[in-house]
Amino acid sequence: MISKTEASRRVEELRELIRRHDYLYYVLDSPEITDLEYDALMRELAALEREFPELASPDSPTMRVGGEPLAAFSKVRHSLPMLSLTNAFDAEELLGFDRRVRSALGRERVAYMVEPKIDGLSVAMTYESGVFRLGATRGDGEVGEDVTQNLRTVRSVPLVLSEPLSLAPVLEVRGEVYLGKREFQQLNEERRASGEPLFANPRNAAAGSLRQLDPRVTARRPLDCFVYEIRRVEGLSVGTQAEALEILARSGFRVCREARLCQSIDEVLWLIKEWEKRRPSLDYDIDGLVIKVNDLPDQAKLGFTSKSPRGAVAFKFGAEEAVTRVVDIIVQVGRTGAVTPTAILEPVFVAGSTVSRATLHNEDIIRAKDIRVGDSVVIRKAGDVIPEIVRVLPERRPQSAREFRMPKKCPECGADVVRLPGEAVYRCQGISCPAQLRESIIHFASRGAMDIDGLGPSRVDQLLAAGLVGDVADLYGLTAGQVAALERMGDRSAQKLVAAIQASKSRPLSRLIYALGIRHVGERTAQDLARAFGTMDALAQADRDRLLSVPEVGPVVADSILSFFKQEQNVMLINKLRNYGVGMSQEEELPAGGPLEGKVVVFTGALERMGRKQAEELVVSMGGKASSSVSSRTDLVVAGPGAGSKLARARELGIPIMSEQEFFDTYVKNPNTVQ
Ligand code: IVH
Repeated sequence: MISKTEASRRVEELRELIRRHDYLYYVLDSPEITDLEYDALMRELAALEREFPELASPDSPTMRVGGEPLAAFSKVRHSLPMLSLTNAFDAEELLGFDRRVRSALGRERVAYMVEPKIDGLSVAMTYESGVFRLGATRGDGEVGEDVTQNLRTVRSVPLVLSEPLSLAPVLEVRGEVYLGKREFQQLNEERRASGEPLFANPRNAAAGSLRQLDPRVTARRPLDCFVYEIRRVEGLSVGTQAEALEILARSGFRVCREARLCQSIDEVLWLIKEWEKRRPSLDYDIDGLVIKVNDLPDQAKLGFTSKSPRGAVAFKFGAEEAVTRVVDIIVQVGRTGAVTPTAILEPVFVAGSTVSRATLHNEDIIRAKDIRVGDSVVIRKAGDVIPEIVRVLPERRPQSAREFRMPKKCPECGADVVRLPGEAVYRCQGISCPAQLRESIIHFASRGAMDIDGLGPSRVDQLLAAGLVGDVADLYGLTAGQVAALERMGDRSAQKLVAAIQASKSRPLSRLIYALGIRHVGERTAQDLARAFGTMDALAQADRDRLLSVPEVGPVVADSILSFFKQEQNVMLINKLRNYGVGMSQEEELPAGGPLEGKVVVFTGALERMGRKQAEELVVSMGGKASSSVSSRTDLVVAGPGAGSKLARARELGIPIMSEQEFFDTYVKNPNTVQ
């Protein structure tokens, strides 16, 4: 047995060693030991910490695997507001920025630091005497979320600093958490395989991964972090941004090595041209460059506008474009029967992912752009948008190029495909079209609808292929035995899936209404309808006038609901669901006569005690309605720090205004108070 003193010494030694190797591997990209040797050090440390629990510490490298899940993130008020940058989109705007800077400083020439603008999630991190204490998201700039636990799992975030910054009693830095292009693609591939929804782009993936309540999930995502700013430091003076980056790197932070110092704005413009060429070959997505006055006292002199510093600007690149070829144009049938043409492309890498199809929206657009099968085309992907074909390169059109014709029959079920007058889209008229069925089941089970865990697109495909479901109601008749017989399905997951399906029977009426997929009835409208009618039967029997009397229901929505309930097969489907025991009334959900019954509440500004969604749900649970805009129909405005135009409008209209605290005291602590 090793003595406690000895253990304590060895634990320190191991932590020091691991920290050094983490730094070499994650920050400098130049490991000195093999993965096996590294794992051995980690194991030894973990074993000692287990044997001597009193030696455990939140700063130990073993803590990177993530601790216990949280119920919610707590809010953090930033000690300094986290501002954002003004954008410049062309040389003209940059020259304007430079002119303003030089004239304010009274200087001929100003040196600028040019850094890639990584497309991720901004975080502020606080260290005390070199130890990581607090990490927060930007939030609204004033108040962010405490994501300390999750940031601990990001390997390039040092838990303990080296000199010189370890000497600062308090240090606050700002950086960007992001996911590399390759890591992003891999994550999405895994999600595709397990039927989970895909992330639209690396930024969303990074945000989704960092804002996980369970840090163990974050720990499994290969997040990275570049630090680019010293926000606050005690006991050290830093003269320039170049020096700041140098000091950050020396102290253990991962700093982007691509930052370059330019002696004038002309040099910056030249560098931008270089960057536009280099951008696709980087391992991570950047959406522009950040140009900062290098001299920090000068930056301070320039000061801030209400939203951004005057000493820096973000130069945004245009959407990334690439050239590829249209291999085919196919049509896809959606849940509403819309038949949408889609271009199948020769795969090409653009803006962070490989693109192999592009939606063509409708036939008119294909005609207008004159896109033919065989054409070379320019495609564009702007951030999170679905790739689109910008234009054809007619000079490259081969003889064999073929025009697209909309099929007369649905490729899935053979029913007629018809374009209704006034509509741009064609629709399949088949009521039991398998493509519509697939999409309608996926929608039925989705999160905002019946929220059936584990029933994603690939499972739905399996159920359809096995002939186990012919409509959404058939889901409720599935047995664990039937499900277990599907490929890649064990007994336990089969039981879990069946239990999840059964559990969805008691979802509130609003979700069921939404889940039915009535055209033009989204989640909000479904909630309004559930509240107004209380039961599915009442909704089914409502006439046009009654429907129109529901706030927010206009003629288009009303007609869509009427035509839905006119279809006999829809009425039969609802009966079938009822016979399986699916709940058809709202009674259980809405406390009649809740303290906010019939009241419309608007939240504006930052909330500190609860998230916005949570607050809105609270209002609904008390019989009220949360809205995002202030009008004469608003009954109450809850205003937090940073509230602006909505608050002003509420004052103008004489609407009662409360702080979050007052709202909480009035309605949450004494939920029976009636205003
Ligand atoms: S400096 C006052 N440097 O771009 C804001 N920002 O609006 C100072 N970003 O929210 C930001 N890379 O999340 C700075 N090298 C970099 C950056 C960077 C990415 C993000 C940051 C900020 C946004 C600018």
